Amino acid sequence: MTAGAPSHFYVTCVGGLEGVVAEEISQRTPSATVTALAFGRVHFVYAGPVAQLLTLRTIEHLHAHIAVLETVRPERAWLSELQAALAATDLQPALELMQQVRELPAKPSFRVTPIRHGQHEFTSPEIGAAAGAGIVERYGWPVDLEGYDLDIRVEVRDAVAAVGLRLSEEALHRRSRVVHMRASLNPTVAAAMVRLSEPEPGETVLDPMTGAGTLITERYQHDPQVRLIASDLYAEKLALAAENFATLAVPARLLRSDARALPLRTGAADKVLCNLPWGRIVANPRLNRRLYPPVLTEIARVVRPGGIVVLLTSERRLLEQSLSRLAELRLARQLHLHVGGLQPTLYVARRL
Ligand SMILES: C[S@@+](CC[C@H](N)C(=O)[O-])C[C@H]1O[C@@H](n2cnc3c(N)ncnc32)[C@H](O)[C@@H]1O
Repeated sequence: MTAGAPSHFYVTCVGGLEGVVAEEISQRTPSATVTALAFGRVHFVYAGPVAQLLTLRTIEHLHAHIAVLETVRPERAWLSELQAALAATDLQPALELMQQVRELPAKPSFRVTPIRHGQHEFTSPEIGAAAGAGIVERYGWPVDLEGYDLDIRVEVRDAVAAVGLRLSEEALHRRSRVVHMRASLNPTVAAAMVRLSEPEPGETVLDPMTGAGTLITERYQHDPQVRLIASDLYAEKLALAAENFATLAVPARLLRSDARALPLRTGAADKVLCNLPWGRIVANPRLNRRLYPPVLTEIARVVRPGGIVVLLTSERRLLEQSLSRLAELRLARQLHLHVGGLQPTLYVARRL
């Protein structure tokens, strides 16, 4: 580990997962100290190698923190303050962090990725233009929207703007699959579900509605000492899972079965991870009303007493009603997420 003054980083994540992300940062990089949580963002300080941070699984992107501006005004005139602030900002510390993971030319090209939430007179592209002008003023770097070396992220949320340099190259949510289906789960959410299941070596983990197998893959990648059962009703979904498992060398047992009547003995699984049909792409609300109660009853049967069940759906009422009828499953935690314009809820329940 490189000793030295700690640097300030932040990661972006699916909104609602900030607490789980903060837990992962604290556990996986004990020398990091989480300093603040904001919607979809976790800030922390850390003095170790950047490469270690790129192994975090619940995050979307890693950024070197550059500045926080806490005096954003809604008027268009604020844009010239943003430009001036960027022109006055030393980007060298952030570049040094990036050079730990990637070589940079002497005069790197850059783009600004603007993000805006709240009521402002200006638009996101105007934020990008103003921030970009400030950087050109100070460094004279060329702007290149496609082939950029540096991606400077400027997120304006109401009266606060956070500026960072993206250190992660690929979106970290594009892993764990080579083929996917339309309802496939974001792997960072799958990784959060794995963490919430309190994984232990040697346990048996079941996904009774596995689709392309994202949850099972994430569970394996968390710790390969695990017995995995991936089940789905449809052969074409299992074929996707099989292809992903073969490519990523995930040794899961594939089962074609109805989640309402699993060919597994009572108490066979230590953990159940399941992304149920949300009634939009897979199934519909009417089908779900007939599906959820028997699926939950079956999950409660196959998970052993003391085991943990982690479920994801946007059908909140239906899931909560179905759960409340089952005395054996006690709800321990709920997280409301924001994923791609939808707001599913993540449920953690313990089998009594
Ligand atoms: C929301 S998708 C799961 C997506 C998966 N987590 C992924 O990342 O690809 C729900 C899955 O439930 C499966 N399914 C629907 N009804 C089922 C049933 N009665 N028994 C088992 N699987 C079922 C669908 O085939 C679909 O693959």
